[in-house]
Amino acid sequence: MACRICSGRLRQFADFGRQPISDAFVEPGDTSAEFFFRLAVGICENCTMVQLLEEVPRERMFHEGYPYVSSGSAVMREHFHTLAKRLLTTELTGGNPFVVELGCNDGTMLEVIADAGVRHLGVEPSGGVADLAAAKGVRVTKDFFEAATAARVRAAEGPADVIYAANTLCHIPYMDSILSGVDTLLKVDGVFVFEDPYLAEIVERASFDQIYDEHFYFFAAGSVRAMARRHGFELVDVERLPVHGGEVRYTLARAGARTPAPAVDRMLAAEAAAGITRISALDQWAARVEGNRDRLVALLKGLRAQGATVYGYGATAKSATVLNYCGIGPDLLTFVTDTTPAKQGRLTPGSHIPVLGPEAFRDPYPDYALLLAWNHAEEIMAKESAFRESGGRWILYVPDVHLV
Ligand code: SAM
Ligand code: TMP
Ligand code: ZN
Repeated sequence: MACRICSGRLRQFADFGRQPISDAFVEPGDTSAEFFFRLAVGICENCTMVQLLEEVPRERMFHEGYPYVSSGSAVMREHFHTLAKRLLTTELTGGNPFVVELGCNDGTMLEVIADAGVRHLGVEPSGGVADLAAAKGVRVTKDFFEAATAARVRAAEGPADVIYAANTLCHIPYMDSILSGVDTLLKVDGVFVFEDPYLAEIVERASFDQIYDEHFYFFAAGSVRAMARRHGFELVDVERLPVHGGEVRYTLARAGARTPAPAVDRMLAAEAAAGITRISALDQWAARVEGNRDRLVALLKGLRAQGATVYGYGATAKSATVLNYCGIGPDLLTFVTDTTPAKQGRLTPGSHIPVLGPEAFRDPYPDYALLLAWNHAEEIMAKESAFRESGGRWILYVPDVHLV
């Protein structure tokens, strides 16, 4: 297997075994047709891009029934609204500006742009969520973004001032096609802005559950800059974001078009100092993850033996890795609660734990709750404060196994 960015040699550092499609929640009684692949991750010895070793065909993940909706978290709604308002007052102030969002999902970011009357287009292959965006008045095309899509949009609408993607670029293995599409579609002085989980956070917090089918790349400033330069772009800004367990928002511009902000060199230096792309550090990380897995399984088995009730909280895509890698099934977690309508009444992929709505969690509260949506901990713990007050305890496994 060669690097999907530069064809360099990949060095594997972790293998999570046989895994299902993380967002393929199954109908009870219909588990025979599940698709599995080998979830292993490696680093390119040449360009340092961390990536999956096996690729899942995109249509298996992103289709009419893709269940994830961006608006499921109040914190994320606020996050995207803030970004949209910022774009409106910075990059989108010229004559008849145009912004394109890749993976606009249910339109949580673009609804603000649409309300402001600014020209925009969402490119979203998952039909169900694209319909939700359209219902909010967002212009959306049901396509995978790639070089051909970019050429079509450019011909029909002209060049874009801003191309934006949140939690989408790292989902796309075919980066050559994407970046040549960005080159086609972006104005000479436009910016390509994208935000994704940050490799340094994953390494530091041992957040191994950021690794699943949809997350193909694990970006850092160093690997993103190398990737950008292959297509004539320069990394001109980076900003750390607190959402989704720690992300970075990268800004690319055409080489020479903008002066890189000092934050870029600072982040590159911090990455070098922390050694996040050193193979020895990644091997140590994998050993730490194995230890956390063993402690989590031992804790859940002990609680079950004591007769304690334990539910899961948040049927996240991430939780597919945790549940399947740790071998946690309905014998250890009675059910997982989740607010997403399309996940409720189904079973978690591979591990086959029932998913129930939020009311089930409160009726009555369990003794323990495994917080699978730990990236939304603050929001969830505030919302469910009565659980803690009733004597319940949260179980977390990032950065290590502990009770709260
Ligand atoms: N941007 C939203 C957010 O941050 O909440 C949605 C993120 S969701 C995890 C990833 C989205 O990317 C999905 O809605 C999926 O359909 C979309 N996607 C996957 N491949 C894509 C591609 N090639 N072009 C555009 N969107 C894509
Ligand atoms: P994410 O980590 O990919 O954003 O997924 C979060 C999942 O957790 C999503 O399925 C919605 C669910 N969720 C709840 O069930 N309750 C909540 O309060 C929040 C914030 C999320
Ligand atoms: Zn490479």
